[in-house]
Amino acid sequence: MSTLHSNLLVTGGAGFIGANFVRAHLAHDPTARVVILDALTYAGNLGNLEGIDAERCTFVRGDIRDTPLVCDLLRQHQLRALVHFAAESHVDRSILGPDLFIETNIVGTHSLLKATRLVWLEEEAGAHRFHHVSTDEVYGSLELRDAAFTESSPVRPNSPYAASKAASDHLVRAYHETFGLDAVITNCSNNYGPYQLPEKLVPLLIVNCLLGERLPVYGDGLHVRDWLHVQDHCNAILLALRKGVAGETYNIGGENERTSLEILRLVVSAIDHAFERDASLATKYPQCPAAAGRSCAELVAFVRDRPGADRRYALDITKARRELGYCPHAIAGPKFEAAFRDTVRWYMANDSWWKSVMDGHYREWVALNYNNR
Ligand code: NAD
Ligand code: DAU
Repeated sequence: MSTLHSNLLVTGGAGFIGANFVRAHLAHDPTARVVILDALTYAGNLGNLEGIDAERCTFVRGDIRDTPLVCDLLRQHQLRALVHFAAESHVDRSILGPDLFIETNIVGTHSLLKATRLVWLEEEAGAHRFHHVSTDEVYGSLELRDAAFTESSPVRPNSPYAASKAASDHLVRAYHETFGLDAVITNCSNNYGPYQLPEKLVPLLIVNCLLGERLPVYGDGLHVRDWLHVQDHCNAILLALRKGVAGETYNIGGENERTSLEILRLVVSAIDHAFERDASLATKYPQCPAAAGRSCAELVAFVRDRPGADRRYALDITKARRELGYCPHAIAGPKFEAAFRDTVRWYMANDSWWKSVMDGHYREWVALNYNNR
């Protein structure tokens, strides 16, 4: 890899995908160095970075809206490429309070664009790369019969979160068109894997099964998402850094469309079977129904849906396959179910991690989101 793509500023690197990406990048490129800029909001956690070689990874606690700080980091560490993960990322939170989403996702992204324009275009022209990580939610919702979204599908975001990400995508594109910033956008589908905060569906279901708490299913549970292993996503970003063309957008999906109920059944069956095979789990998780020989399915509770809930997301990944050589499951293994069971096992084995992130603030949020549903 060239130094351009080896040494990176990674925003939001203490979050779920950012931390997985830092690990993947450092493992993939032995010469790589990373500077992480992360505000450590409720979603950021230094525990996600445990075990990473501090010689190769500098952590800076700071806000992406602090443009002078970003300029200083780019200059001081001579960084010419950036991967931008930092965001408010949870749809439910954007429904309860959109303001922070506007601040972080739109104003924050614009702050990074201003800093990179100043340092990379005005002070020291040369090769550079701004990689913006975005979401399939910007395209809005599909009916079951509709074809998957392509990169030229209209942008029709439905939640404040999705709208804020769409706005940030537009700003990145505009900085490319207007100022010549070398920028690439990837829009990906629902990630799952290690280090995901248990406010998102997959880890929430796993942790609630283990703690014997209810499994909240929004609406009829038939909303469809395209589930993507976080390692496949990180691999796609690494490919896009090297092969992505400035000004282009690439859809990154897992080609794994599943309803929430199908995901729930996978979680329940993985946990029920694990308890049958390993008697020590009953001692570790005595509140889990499987500890008493019952199925975790008894915890299912249908609750009120999100207002404006998107029915289905699906991504057409032809362009990323053709132009980047992207292939989902290249890392996670050939079968979605196998990768998914590995994820469930990771949470069963790493209870100290998820217990540490489920602090008082987390509990307050759960009460706010779920109590009146
Ligand atoms: P996350 O919520 O787990 O982590 C976000 C990180 O950003 C945290 O470490 C947080 O501390 C940091 N952060 C928030 N505001 C900040 C600020 N003002 N300055 C600096 N750091 C700040 O998010 P995630 O799930 O890892 O998602 C990462 C990116 O990928 C986001 O841009 C999200 O929109 C996008 N995305 C996520 C998914 C998914 O399934 N999780 C899917 C598609 C796209
Ligand atoms: O599609 C990409 C997006 O995926 C990302 O841009 C977001 O950052 C990420 O949070 C995720 O958004 P979703 O809203 O799709 O993910 P979430 O895990 O919150 O919900 C997935 C589905 O599960 C959705 O239909 C709502 C449902 N759900 C969710 C929760 C938290 C439930 O039924 N019960 C729940 O408790």
